[in-house]
Amino acid sequence: MNSTLRLAAAISLASLLPLSASAAESKGSVEVVHWWTSGGEKAAVDVLKAQVEKDGFTWKDGAVAGGGGATAMTVLKSRAVAGNPPGVAQIKGPDIQEWASTGLLDTDVLKNVAKEEKWDSLLDKKVADTVKYDGDYVAVPVNIHRINWLWINPEVFKKAGIDKAPTTLDEFYAAADKLKAAGFIPLAHGGQPWQDSTVFESVVLAVMGPEGYKKAMVDLDASALTGPEMVKSLTELMKVATYMDPDGKGQDWNLEAAKVINGKAGMQIMGDWAKSEWTLAKKTAGKDYQCVPFPGTDKAFLYNIDSLVVFKQKDEGTAAGQQDIAKQVLGQDFQKVFSVNKGSIPVRNDMLADMGKYGFDACAQTSAKDFLADAKTGGLQPSMAHNMATTLAVQGAFFDVVTNYINDPKADPADAAKKLAAAIKAAK
Ligand code: GAL
Repeated sequence: MNSTLRLAAAISLASLLPLSASAAESKGSVEVVHWWTSGGEKAAVDVLKAQVEKDGFTWKDGAVAGGGGATAMTVLKSRAVAGNPPGVAQIKGPDIQEWASTGLLDTDVLKNVAKEEKWDSLLDKKVADTVKYDGDYVAVPVNIHRINWLWINPEVFKKAGIDKAPTTLDEFYAAADKLKAAGFIPLAHGGQPWQDSTVFESVVLAVMGPEGYKKAMVDLDASALTGPEMVKSLTELMKVATYMDPDGKGQDWNLEAAKVINGKAGMQIMGDWAKSEWTLAKKTAGKDYQCVPFPGTDKAFLYNIDSLVVFKQKDEGTAAGQQDIAKQVLGQDFQKVFSVNKGSIPVRNDMLADMGKYGFDACAQTSAKDFLADAKTGGLQPSMAHNMATTLAVQGAFFDVVTNYINDPKADPADAAKKLAAAIKAAK
């Protein structure tokens, strides 16, 4: 063998060795597609990765950047069409049922784990039903996020002469005016469609209340979509938009959160994954920042349940890894550490009922208390902007109309409401 051939042989041997060594050590490999890529969210998902690796499995990270997950969903669809779906993927709400109806999700692999770990009694029926298809678990619920939050930098508020967090839309506008006058960005906001609609649905909740929200955003009732309360919601939305960061077009949510954390902006309307960035920056809830329900929505809770679905796999070795992930995800240790990092609250009933015991902060304790209380009054409603209320096609219709509307200051709210109803009708 000449020296070149010897080198080539050595290289190919060397490249094989680590692979075969890790294959021998690993109990199986699972690829997990998700969109938790901001600093704080990465810290949260790394907890799961470390646990799964500790259990002897190989975690293939399938992170797809892009808040709200639209890009991840596009990637997932093309992989499914190509016959190459990952073992596990972040999919939520009614979309889970749509995927399951294609036959691509595994209805067997979670059966034993769910039975042994007593998922039916650990979870609220509403939560369990979201991740079941025809009575079988096809996904594991990870956590619960609340959408209708307002994040405040109290130091900035003080500098602008604002002495309390707004509780009504009028107080919100008054605070925003003061922030503007004092030279701050009143409202940090990234102009991406899912972020526009996150603000929109909080405003709808404030104006129409939970019942009105349900009629328009969940039942998609045409008269609620075009009625005076929706027109008022769109009018208020346009006013809220006047306070948004002028440099926020196309900006990621976490970069906008950073502006509030760094004291450039006073407020952000965002789901409680925003807290993950505050936590990462070592800030304390109630002291360095305030979380309050979006003005006018303190008796309501727009929920968003993250969940990980299991896809059927050709390689049988993946099943053990899928089961390990599912088991870990609903364990008390993971439920605590993940939600502390992620800004959410656990999905387990026992933990929701006793948050102080698990060391959750003031924001998380309020969230759990409201989640349980609002479930009894009808105040608990699924988020449209975060895939919990409708199919992705209908959500796309909302996103288009809302984003076009807030980017056209001359747009007429009554006209936008009609466009909304028409776009939704076409997408249904
Ligand atoms: C949501 C998801 C959250 C968070 C957020 C920002 O749809 O449920 O976990 O990742 O998007 O990307």
